[in-house]
Amino acid sequence: MQEAPPLLLIHGFPLDAGMWAPQVAGLSGLTEVIAEDLRGFGTDTRELPAIMPMRSHAADIKELMDARGIGKVVMCGLSMGGYIAMAFAERWPDRLAGIILCNTRSNADDEDGVAARHEMAHNAREKGMDVIARGMVPNLLGPATHSEHPEVAGLVTRIIARQRPETVAATALGMAQRPDRLAVLQRLKVPALIITGEHDTLMPLPTSQAMADAMPGARLVVLPGAGHLSNLEVPELFNRTVQLFMEEHFKGS
Ligand code: MLT
Repeated sequence: MQEAPPLLLIHGFPLDAGMWAPQVAGLSGLTEVIAEDLRGFGTDTRELPAIMPMRSHAADIKELMDARGIGKVVMCGLSMGGYIAMAFAERWPDRLAGIILCNTRSNADDEDGVAARHEMAHNAREKGMDVIARGMVPNLLGPATHSEHPEVAGLVTRIIARQRPETVAATALGMAQRPDRLAVLQRLKVPALIITGEHDTLMPLPTSQAMADAMPGARLVVLPGAGHLSNLEVPELFNRTVQLFMEEHFKGS
């Protein structure tokens, strides 16, 4: 069994690494946990092109790993973070010791999905991130989170509202261009964990099932009570699920 590699967390859209606070706090005892803002998000000030593809976000992560002298990681991406993890796996599979894909999907956007990305890019620039946040938050969290943990909705609203419209627009247009990456998962030969939320209406269960089916040996875990942001909605369950996966596959975690 190999030593536990760092756990590299990739945030969703249009969020930043602040969404991983419960994992940084809860999993750092297991191994090194890396949770950085993607280009242009949160406090990151790097410039973005007008369209920022998932493979470019993945290239930034490869650069970060090289700069820190990190050979392999267990890469954990939620939603858009999963798209980026799959783009990374396509190009640098040998830099992965394991993969955790949360509340995400391997398929590309359909025509309506692409149109919605263009609308998002337009609205981010024209209406601002407060309006985007108010429109998105109802669908990002499950009903139990909305009723029992309104502070989570407040936190997610604040995270979305602090993003820069041009970053959100460029990354929305980048997501619209991403190809289907099911074949990437079929080729990937590392331990894999698929996590989703019982009430995730944005990425319903069949999308997670398809990814699990593509990777023999992958475990699919459906977290009860969670919606799309399962790591924030049921953080203890989420962390326990990741911990069990790490302990099963890596020494010292
Ligand atoms: C996310 O949470 O990252 C987004 O829902 C991904 C997407 O818009 O496809």
